Amino acid sequence: MDRWQTIIEPFRIHAVEPIRLTTEADRERSLEAAGWNLFNLHADDVLIDLLTDSGTGAMSRDQWAAIQHGDESYAGSPSWYVFLEAVQDLFPFRHVIPTHQGRAAERILFSALCGPGSCVPANTHFDTTRANVEYTGAEAVDLVIREGTVPSMIHPFKGNVDVAALEQLLEDRGDAVPLVVVTVTNNSGGGQPVSLANLRDVRRVCDRFAKPLFLDACRFAENAWFIKTREPGQADRPVKEIVREMASLADGMTMSAKKYGLANIGGWLALNDDAIAEQCRSLLILTEGFVTYGGLAGRDLEAIAQGLREVVDDDYLRYRIRSTAYLGEALVAAGIPCVQPFGGHAVYLDARSLLAHIPPLEYPGQSLAVELYRAGGIRGCEIGTVMFGRHPDGSEAPASMDLVRLAIPRRTYTQSHVDYVIEVARDVAARAPSLHGYRIVKEPAALRHFSARFEPVG
Ligand SMILES: Cc1ncc(COP(=O)(O)O)c(C=O)c1O
Repeated sequence: MDRWQTIIEPFRIHAVEPIRLTTEADRERSLEAAGWNLFNLHADDVLIDLLTDSGTGAMSRDQWAAIQHGDESYAGSPSWYVFLEAVQDLFPFRHVIPTHQGRAAERILFSALCGPGSCVPANTHFDTTRANVEYTGAEAVDLVIREGTVPSMIHPFKGNVDVAALEQLLEDRGDAVPLVVVTVTNNSGGGQPVSLANLRDVRRVCDRFAKPLFLDACRFAENAWFIKTREPGQADRPVKEIVREMASLADGMTMSAKKYGLANIGGWLALNDDAIAEQCRSLLILTEGFVTYGGLAGRDLEAIAQGLREVVDDDYLRYRIRSTAYLGEALVAAGIPCVQPFGGHAVYLDARSLLAHIPPLEYPGQSLAVELYRAGGIRGCEIGTVMFGRHPDGSEAPASMDLVRLAIPRRTYTQSHVDYVIEVARDVAARAPSLHGYRIVKEPAALRHFSARFEPVG
């Protein structure tokens, strides 16, 4: 097996979905109607949808079969116990609280622990964690290592927390910090992993200051695979064992099962502290549902449980990481600057550097994302000044990077789809100097990237 270079998908296609082919003229019209915001497009008008890897993957035969076992009892459904066992097999926290997706777990946790004046450090907060922290009146602080903010810098664990900076923050403002968050892998920082050594150091600091440590664990399996393949001494350990060690270093986790539950919906909050769990369950009942289903149907709980069994498979993870790197390597070979090394679930194009003639406040990431769609029907996602540039006090400033994320839905696209993406991106990059910026003509108070409307500049 090892001597062959071609990456093969470790699955066969069992059911197919049509892709509607469109022309550039069709896409120009769609863009104008969408206010040049790719979130506003009708998905039928997208050829290759790399907007997100969240909830967009293909479920397996065994997950569809598990759905038939879904039991919809309001309380104490057998499907709940199947789910609970699968979650605790990987993450043996005492309390597991099911939610409809990751951000519901975040909202519940941060509402219970944070408020005006508090401060939550993380490597990098994902947009929903930042928004949920800030919604309580608290401040979200990003403390990723310096290498994690420089797209071209090579480091095996660019998602690591800057431990000295965390220690300093806790010394200066420890009383204001209710918890520390580590995102694995670090999505907003380029899908970069966090090492076990770094997690152990963060744990040590949290112990010193008596602070709980929570994982934002959406992509735990990719993070564990990177640990296995990059961290000294980890190569011979089963992925499952590494995942359990990651969990053992934390006091709890928030999770979006739309990533590594391999499901289309779902999430959970898990933790050890009895008092906080009780408070969180009360909040759960208020808006999500009863404690044995949260915001989910019994059939969803079954699909997630089966997904969790599949996701720690070496063949799947090897293919996943290799096929993402295949896209990244081809883009870099074509002279397109990308965040390196490549993350697990996405390739991040460095739009600020490719479109250096577009100032950050004219959104180079938006410009590149729009052009990939206009030229080839590929939908990516701006992760930069549009997403992070507006601050709670109303001011606007450039984000630390202007990236376009091409996220790869799990088990969904084949290598020829990826080859098409490479061809289109090469064409767009060759025309980079002719691309222009955008201005925002309408935006909501928070999370503006989802619904803002734009206009081309010039
Ligand atoms: C790192 C990270 N945390 C949290 C979330 C939120 O999860 P959900 O979309 O299920 O609410 C996401 C979603 O993309 C994410 O990538």
